[in-house]
Amino acid sequence: MPKLTIDGVTVTAPEGATILDAARSLNVDVPTLCWYPTLPTVGNCRICLVSVEGNPKLVAACATQAAEGMIVTTESVAAVKNRQGVLSLLLERYPAEDIPEGGYRNEFEQLVRRYDVPATRRSGMPLRTGDERDDDPIIQHDMSTCILCTRCVRACEDIQVVGVLDVGNRGDHTEIIVGADGNPEHAGCTWCGECVRVCPTGAIHDIIPMAVRAANGQMVDHMRSKDLPPVDRNVRSVCPYCGVGCQIDLQVRDEKVVHVRSPWIEENTPNNGSTCVKGRFGTDFVQHQDRLLKPLMRRGWSKRDGRWVFDATEHARRGWQRRGGPWDNVQEEAHEKKRRPKTNPLNTSPTGMDSLGDPRDRVATPKDWYEPFREATWEEVMELTAQELVRLRDTRGPESLAVFQSAKCSNEENYLLQRMFRGGLGTNNVDHCTRLCHSSSVSAMQRAMNTSAASGSMREVEKESDVIFILGANTTESHPVFGAAIKRAVKRGAKLIVADPRKIELAARAHIHLQSVPGTDVALLNAMLNHILARGMEDKAFIAARTHDFDKVREAVKPYTPERAETITSVPADLIRQAAEWYARGPRSATLWAMGLTQHATGTDIVASLLNLLLATGMIGRWGAAMIPIRGQNNVQGASDVGAIPMVYTDYQPVTDPAIRHMFVSTWGVPDERIPLQVGLKVTQIVQETSPVRGMYIMGENPILSDPEVSHAEHWFRELEFLAVQDLFLTETARYADVVLPGASFAEKTGTFVNTERRIQLSKKAIDPPGNSRGDLEIIIDLSNRVGLPTPFKGSAEVMDEIARVTPSWRGVSHARLDGNGGLQYPVPHAEHPGTEFLFDDRFPTKDGKATFVGVEFLPPAELPDEEYPFMLNTGRQMYHWHTGTMTRRSFALDAREPGPIVELNPADAEEMGVGEGDEVVVSSRRGEIRISVRLSKRVARKQVFVPMHYREAAVNLLTNPELDPYAHIPEFKVCAVSVAKVRAQSSEVREPRTLATQAGD
Ligand code: SF4
Ligand code: SF4
Ligand code: FES
Repeated sequence: MPKLTIDGVTVTAPEGATILDAARSLNVDVPTLCWYPTLPTVGNCRICLVSVEGNPKLVAACATQAAEGMIVTTESVAAVKNRQGVLSLLLERYPAEDIPEGGYRNEFEQLVRRYDVPATRRSGMPLRTGDERDDDPIIQHDMSTCILCTRCVRACEDIQVVGVLDVGNRGDHTEIIVGADGNPEHAGCTWCGECVRVCPTGAIHDIIPMAVRAANGQMVDHMRSKDLPPVDRNVRSVCPYCGVGCQIDLQVRDEKVVHVRSPWIEENTPNNGSTCVKGRFGTDFVQHQDRLLKPLMRRGWSKRDGRWVFDATEHARRGWQRRGGPWDNVQEEAHEKKRRPKTNPLNTSPTGMDSLGDPRDRVATPKDWYEPFREATWEEVMELTAQELVRLRDTRGPESLAVFQSAKCSNEENYLLQRMFRGGLGTNNVDHCTRLCHSSSVSAMQRAMNTSAASGSMREVEKESDVIFILGANTTESHPVFGAAIKRAVKRGAKLIVADPRKIELAARAHIHLQSVPGTDVALLNAMLNHILARGMEDKAFIAARTHDFDKVREAVKPYTPERAETITSVPADLIRQAAEWYARGPRSATLWAMGLTQHATGTDIVASLLNLLLATGMIGRWGAAMIPIRGQNNVQGASDVGAIPMVYTDYQPVTDPAIRHMFVSTWGVPDERIPLQVGLKVTQIVQETSPVRGMYIMGENPILSDPEVSHAEHWFRELEFLAVQDLFLTETARYADVVLPGASFAEKTGTFVNTERRIQLSKKAIDPPGNSRGDLEIIIDLSNRVGLPTPFKGSAEVMDEIARVTPSWRGVSHARLDGNGGLQYPVPHAEHPGTEFLFDDRFPTKDGKATFVGVEFLPPAELPDEEYPFMLNTGRQMYHWHTGTMTRRSFALDAREPGPIVELNPADAEEMGVGEGDEVVVSSRRGEIRISVRLSKRVARKQVFVPMHYREAAVNLLTNPELDPYAHIPEFKVCAVSVAKVRAQSSEVREPRTLATQAGD
């Protein structure tokens, strides 16, 4: 390792380090422009030139390796003179006259000031030009301030692995171009904003789509981020969307979150400061005009003789049901002609306010949804809620109550809510949306190795895995920052095997795409193992030392030859063989999957067959051989970890164990017999005609859209005796409530969240909840005390202290330890423990430390296409939206990018039916139908269609099959049989919309 001297200080640099690296290790600030951490070095701007003793010329610090004995002066007269020259030259084609007197607005201008270069443009040279993205609602260019450092080009290519931007033309005409024709859509832009974050001048900037106070004190209705005056504060937060758990900095001005800034790329964050379009541009829902500012109470409730009673007279007079209102239900709305843009405008050019109307208004809560409610005080709604929960407990028994918790709320909030329902109300009917996503992963992983979380880290997949096998996961859209990491791994040389019925982006980039028929994964995975065994490629030592029951699996996979699997899955046998060999050969194969595997009536079996493959080849317990069920929501892992599921307390400690119950009741100060030793009901068992549940509390979930068979769910919720909903907006579910409790968004509270790799991170409060809304923790504490459970906490840090006391694998966790860093990956068994990057290196958490194989047979999906319903329906997420759209459809940028529901249809099928892009079709299943616009897409195979899950007005769950997996009770969201029929113009059976007509911009 070379030893050198920089500005008189001696330093030992790592082998291969540059002078710049060595200087930075000493905190010596060598100016840079084209250099940026992690990006390939191009050394073209020459601002970093330094003097090296004995060297007649200045050398580029960013591109010159540190050598033994070097004596470097970073601010020599020659170096400073060179920098002044470089800056003057760049200023020749920069609007220098705009640089504020004595100040600066960006990194480049800061250097102009630092080196005292006159901010004037003396030449007659024209300002630079380039592709401008003029009409883009999210990212725009002002190429007059481009200094051609090419950071944006490299960031797009090397961090995001997209390659939208390039350097075009030559000499004086050199400029940054956007794809071949200036259209980012055509070039594959994902609006991730990576180019925005690396640009040193703001030439590439985003649009802040909200009223902001400008530098001159005037309010403007939107602003370029480059013009944003210094903000009041930056607050470290965690993105509220997917399970990657990107850390972001919320920029607050005038008590509003006006902008999102990336953490510095070299900070220890799971995202290295990158985000996707949702994390960077999708947080303005926090300020949306629809936010609930006061508690709401259904009209008809009044207090008589000290108790709240409901009088249905007014509802009856207005023709509403007891729990209804003047709106079309989801089923009715699905039939309506869609007034929103017929098709996605993205295929032509980006659009914004001009062509579509202002997206901020288009999905506003219809005004008439508020009609059945009156504004109430907190005292009124809390009193009524506590009264009804206690009444139901005491008259109908604790099993008549249930709670849906939230994978978007913090660990502390989820812990306290299950604590209230268990310790205060005496029921284990506690669940959340994990039931609808990874519950089958959990049941299969629990059975095989007694674990419920990922074994490894995203970083090892990016840096170390030789083979990445990813199944049923559209990662570049659903978890884009992890998707980019996978693309970087492929660039590094990792082999990528994708199993997915759709030709998604990763499938198109994969070395092998196993494009199987939906729901046939068991046959595919059994055949892979069959071939591995036939070739003797299993890891015999691992199997012998660390597993049980391998012989059962050997028998189970015997009939699944690759040829037989081909007939079931449509994947060529040779491809199955090749994928199997690559995976088994590794040597470090990572296994990743998501809802494409789990949301089936055989979801547990499918994951079990994958775990068999993984265990038989020993692909777990080593850095690079990660097992990661990729989690959907930002805290679906944490909500389960802290007990928001019906069978366990925190840390998956079973509710059936009296000793464990005793530990919890002692902590909570209630008698043992308060909490049953029986497992509670799951989401899909609660929303059933036969369920005993009559009163519900829902925090931050929207089950009317997210549950299968919406029409049934909508009916069921209407029949409840009492429904309380705690949320940000009056959602499709909240409109049926008795009380609506306005909670806080992620930006308005401090709490912790667990990402997909078991990383517990602290997200801090940036602003107060608006109006008279309240922090969710505060609401739960108040209610817990009212239902008789002592809940003395003053804030989330104190709640975490209790969680740590009752949760062995979190014992060393506290807010203080999570503050200002990348968080801790549990297990963290004590206060000095550094966290655990990967698990199971020598044993599984079972009694004898061994995992168990479980042989599984292929069973076809519950409903297959036939003459009447000849298509297979698949559903899932889009890049720009999130679950039921509550937040993303209220984000300017996201709604502008994807403004309405679509069905992806293969062009050949469309041609046969005589429909084209944007035409409306009716998609019908045995359970319902929706009217929706066509998007032609070769991503879907013939006779398959894909409908995203985000849209109320074309709710895909009117169609999906409620058939349940027998172990996990997850519904078969991913496969059902549908028909697709063209809508004739002015069709008489299709009604015009009622509620949507009230929305602006239509
Ligand atoms: S937004 Fe992302 S994908 Fe688009 S040009 Fe910028 S870096 Fe590339
Ligand atoms: S990848 Fe996930 S966590 Fe990261 S910014 Fe996007 S949605 Fe947020
Ligand atoms: S920063 Fe070294 S040449 Fe540009």
